[in-house]
Amino acid sequence: MAIRVGIIFSRPRVEEKHLFASFEQRGVTVTPINDDELILDVGMKPLPFDVILERSVSTSRGLYALRMLEAAGNVTINRFHTANTCADKLLTTAALQEAGVPQPKVRVAFTPETALKAIEEMGYPVVLKPVIGSWGRLLARINDRDAAEAVLEHKEVLGSYQHSIIYIQEMVRKPGRDIRAFVVGNECICAIYRSAEHWITNTARGGKASNCPVTPELNDLCVRAANAVGGGVLAVDVFEDPDRGLLVNEINHTMEFRNSIAPTGVDIPGRVADYALAVAAEGIGAQ
Ligand SMILES: Nc1ncnc2c1ncn2[C@@H]1O[C@H](COP(=O)(O)OP(=O)(O)O)[C@@H](O)[C@H]1O
Ligand SMILES: [Mg+2]
Repeated sequence: MAIRVGIIFSRPRVEEKHLFASFEQRGVTVTPINDDELILDVGMKPLPFDVILERSVSTSRGLYALRMLEAAGNVTINRFHTANTCADKLLTTAALQEAGVPQPKVRVAFTPETALKAIEEMGYPVVLKPVIGSWGRLLARINDRDAAEAVLEHKEVLGSYQHSIIYIQEMVRKPGRDIRAFVVGNECICAIYRSAEHWITNTARGGKASNCPVTPELNDLCVRAANAVGGGVLAVDVFEDPDRGLLVNEINHTMEFRNSIAPTGVDIPGRVADYALAVAAEGIGAQ
């Protein structure tokens, strides 16, 4: 019986187009599910797919869709628990801590006063970031007390609900680059260095991608990090600390990979498609 695959998306980005093409190359027709048109009925039967990939641009739509689909009995990539953990930097930090995965020092506080105290104890510079967010948006590098007071006041007065959770991370002294590693199942399939003059190196912010060799050490760290949040198809942000070696910064559950195929020479969407088909086949076998 042919495997039935659905992909939930918002608008077809380059990544989704690659994924559609990869499934097609494997003789599998994918049903696109636009999240604008989706109605999820409580108590509904599973949608008619053996596996559903969640690729919404909207984090909240993706999470709620995954939760409802799981309740209906669908097999999804990623699973809700994994996506929900990765979507929140503090939940990710806690999961990494429990699994003993090395990461930068982090403190959390709920008021500007306690946040300032935590920052002063940690020492400057630190980085403040919204617990939910991506593409390097609203990150603040805090070099001194004046900046800390200003940003904390802005957060309190202008910030939305999420900004009342103050996530404080030590600034890692990276060598002008960091690592973005792609994990599919139990393997780190490839990685890139993201180099930039700016301390924020996201490719969405102009960071330049080049191949990063996957050493056994990097593979082991990233697979442990991925498993710490439940595993699946994930992109792990890694910093190279001059003293402590590799540290996991965060994990992304609906990764962009358009800039990483050429430098690594790895067919990332093809590997994702193979993994999804294997997960689907396992699910069918279990029935
Ligand atoms: N603590 C830190 N030390 C050094 N660089 C950082 C730190 N936190 C973030 N960065 C830089 O900013 C980028 C974006 O931060 P990240 O935590 O990955 O948030 P986002 O979800 O927006 O990608 C990182 O890839 C890195 O280049
Ligand atoms: Mg990141």
